[in-house]
Amino acid sequence: MGMMDHRFDIVDKAAFRNGMSRLGSAVNVVTAMSGGKRYGFTASSVCSVSDSPATLLFCINRASSCFHAFENARHFCVNTLMPGQEDISNVFGGKNPWEDRFELGEWRDGLTGVPVLANASVSFECELSNAVDEATHRVLFGRVIDIREHDEQATLLYCMRRYLNG
Ligand SMILES: Cc1cc2nc3c(=O)[nH]c(=O)nc-3n(C[C@H](O)[C@H](O)[C@H](O)COP(=O)(O)O)c2cc1C
Repeated sequence: MGMMDHRFDIVDKAAFRNGMSRLGSAVNVVTAMSGGKRYGFTASSVCSVSDSPATLLFCINRASSCFHAFENARHFCVNTLMPGQEDISNVFGGKNPWEDRFELGEWRDGLTGVPVLANASVSFECELSNAVDEATHRVLFGRVIDIREHDEQATLLYCMRRYLNG
């Protein structure tokens, strides 16, 4: 941790969470396969990294009940939700049993077998390229190997702890 300047205190968790709640973001369900089973969780931490080659990242809490699936998966899919898919966000963002989560929405197999949401705003199927642990989370990087876009120009957004249509 040679890069840290220890003269300053780090802000507390609540102040940080309140500040971060003002950063609007798309709502995504990130999916993977592990041991023949489907896994997925709601993630707002998706970010573009580079277009050369096409690379994105997301962050997953290492205490998450689906962490083991992402720890071992070579592929994953970022499914960005449409307005009206708040129920999918809520079921994948709560403590629901795995197979219940996939009962909402129409799920298909991607090129690599990962679950792809048929009516997503956009789906990015990825091959894992790197992983870095930071604090409580693991940052996973993926090269995008397939993109599917919805005909309609719309995406479900989350800002100030509520859903917005964008
Ligand atoms: C809008 C929203 C965004 C979220 N973003 C993330 C995220 O980026 N990374 C993460 O690890 N969890 C995120 N979560 C929480 C997980 O979706 C949630 O912890 C998980 O699905 C349920 O917990 P479990 O995996 O331990 O069963 C988010 C939840 C919501 C509702």
